[in-house]
Amino acid sequence: MALKLHSLFALSTALILIQAPAEAATCTGCFVQSRATYYPNSDEQGTDTGACGFGSFGANINGGDVSAAWDLYRDGLGCGACYQVRCTDSNYCSDKGVTVVITDQGSGDSTDFILSRRAFGRMAQTTDKASSLFTIGVIGIEYRRVSCSYPKKNITIKIDESSSYPHYLGFVIWYQQGDKDITAVQLCETQSFTCKLLERSHGAVWTTTSPPSGPLSVRMLLSGDGGDETWLVPVNDIPEGWKGGETYDTGVQVN
Ligand SMILES: *[C@@H]1O[C@H](CO)[C@@H](O)[C@H](O)[C@H]1NC(C)=O
Repeated sequence: MALKLHSLFALSTALILIQAPAEAATCTGCFVQSRATYYPNSDEQGTDTGACGFGSFGANINGGDVSAAWDLYRDGLGCGACYQVRCTDSNYCSDKGVTVVITDQGSGDSTDFILSRRAFGRMAQTTDKASSLFTIGVIGIEYRRVSCSYPKKNITIKIDESSSYPHYLGFVIWYQQGDKDITAVQLCETQSFTCKLLERSHGAVWTTTSPPSGPLSVRMLLSGDGGDETWLVPVNDIPEGWKGGETYDTGVQVN
């Protein structure tokens, strides 16, 4: 009996330990303590080959203020999400920090973020202080999820170059807006109202084999922290005769 009680106690302690970080992470608007570093290459911006599959969009979006995430990558669900990240040493760091878009996956030395050099430097108060941060390399930060805002952009579908009717269709969603995740995508034939759920193949990339010729509508399920879910229905269709490499404006914004 004593043994049983002891193991129950151990179990509940373990549960509390498991729950603690999750609660911290879901506390809406709260900053979470962590660590960040920067990409080791010499580019100011992100990488064209980020795990999200955004290509050069993933290096340049948001002026190049982008990041690789580790836990926050969430198997690709985190791709396109925005975070305010600020470093915590008041000798060097500004209050505001920087807002980054997740476009890649990675971790170095227990970090949650590997920022582009541009984004990393922008957390400092001055360029001199930025140099000091770069020298330190891995720094204490705090972060919180924020809305992504692209006021002059509609959500846009970028068709993967290797896509061709009637074999394969893959795409990523550009300019994901707001602070919700895209948890599912339906590809609908607008003339017959036939829809099918697509698979997230990796990162932000959605794919299907035997795609219809179009016109097509890409519906996105937006899911919030509180469990709320909304289907976002585009205004514009992807036209019949869609092509790999093309971008198609959905005509919708979120917010
Ligand atoms: C967004 O879509 C709407 C509706 O199609 C269009 O009127 C508007 O010009 C688009 N905005 C941009 C910035 O492309």
